[in-house]
Amino acid sequence: MGARIIGTGSAVPSTCLTNDDLAGRVDTNHKWIVTRTGIQERRVIRKDEALLDLIHAASETALKAAGLSAQDLDVILIATVSGEYAFPSTACLLQTRLGVDNIPAFDVAAACAGFVYGMSVAHSYLKSGEYNRILLVGADALSSMVNWGDRTTCVLFGDGAGAVVLENQSNDRGLLSTVVESSGALWQLLHVRSGLRQTFDQAGEQEPDWGIQMRGPELFKVAVRALSDVTKKALEKAGLAPEDIKLMVPHQANLRIIQAVADRLGASMDKVHCNVDRFGNTSAASIPIALDEAVRAGKVHADDIVVLNGCGGGLTWGASVARW
Ligand code: UT7
Repeated sequence: MGARIIGTGSAVPSTCLTNDDLAGRVDTNHKWIVTRTGIQERRVIRKDEALLDLIHAASETALKAAGLSAQDLDVILIATVSGEYAFPSTACLLQTRLGVDNIPAFDVAAACAGFVYGMSVAHSYLKSGEYNRILLVGADALSSMVNWGDRTTCVLFGDGAGAVVLENQSNDRGLLSTVVESSGALWQLLHVRSGLRQTFDQAGEQEPDWGIQMRGPELFKVAVRALSDVTKKALEKAGLAPEDIKLMVPHQANLRIIQAVADRLGASMDKVHCNVDRFGNTSAASIPIALDEAVRAGKVHADDIVVLNGCGGGLTWGASVARW
């Protein structure tokens, strides 16, 4: 039995912020941002726009590509840390938009590694035989959590949603392995306080560390090591080696991280799908958006070994290996 990705979809907001737009708001410049991150522009939601609309659009596209309707689904999973409500989950809100009921719908929170964590849950559910079709969405709007006066973080993030439909099929293609790991000891390298943490005696006080807090250079080193190690582990678990990779679709945090990981795996950059230049770091959405692009561009062929990997706040990281 193979758990295969049978449809992909994605959606991003229409508002595009270029590096020059940001240079008009904080002390930064296009050259610094491109050299240090590879990012040229990013898409962001406006105050009257909702992440759920992007999630819905990406999901409908993935279902269409899979040739299924929402009624065919057994589970709805969303990897996100930026749902509009603390509860209900964003997955429950999507469920009612899709007009389906009485199937499990829940969110997975692992920040930028959320999509790979979602793959781990979906993979186990499908492998157990309990469920046959799962909609997995990765979506975030971290632009709504950054301090727009902090040049060290506000230039990095963009918003969006990507979705995949997974189905159990009786052939040897599909997910071969997924490995996820966390290190709570490193939580301070990347974090954002919940807006809901204000106690009754704090009313009106601004938390001193509001907005996304990142210790970039330290995180960079951990990300490169963790991503290359976990990808090797996932490949080994699948009985494969780095040279078997046909396409790697990594989390798009920083082009230099992606290049360093590819280098450690001995994979040339023509085997890596990157779109960090156009979308920045869209957190849990980045892998499924990039995967959808790669699929639609005809970069993925039957039987190709495809690797998805990501690292984020937690710290969390993971990798999934599939025979397409
Ligand atoms: O998605 C989750 C995973 N995310 C990551 O793994 C992100 C990992 N970290 C990174 O990608 C990089 O560390 C950053 C892109 C965040 C930063 O790049 P860096 O090459 O590590 O720069 P840095 O933090 O060491 O800063 C170098 C200099 C500093 O100035 P001084 O102290 O040398 O005078 C910063 O203040 O660049 C300055 N700087 C900026 N200058 C212009 C920081 N941000 C900016 C900016 N524009 N936006």
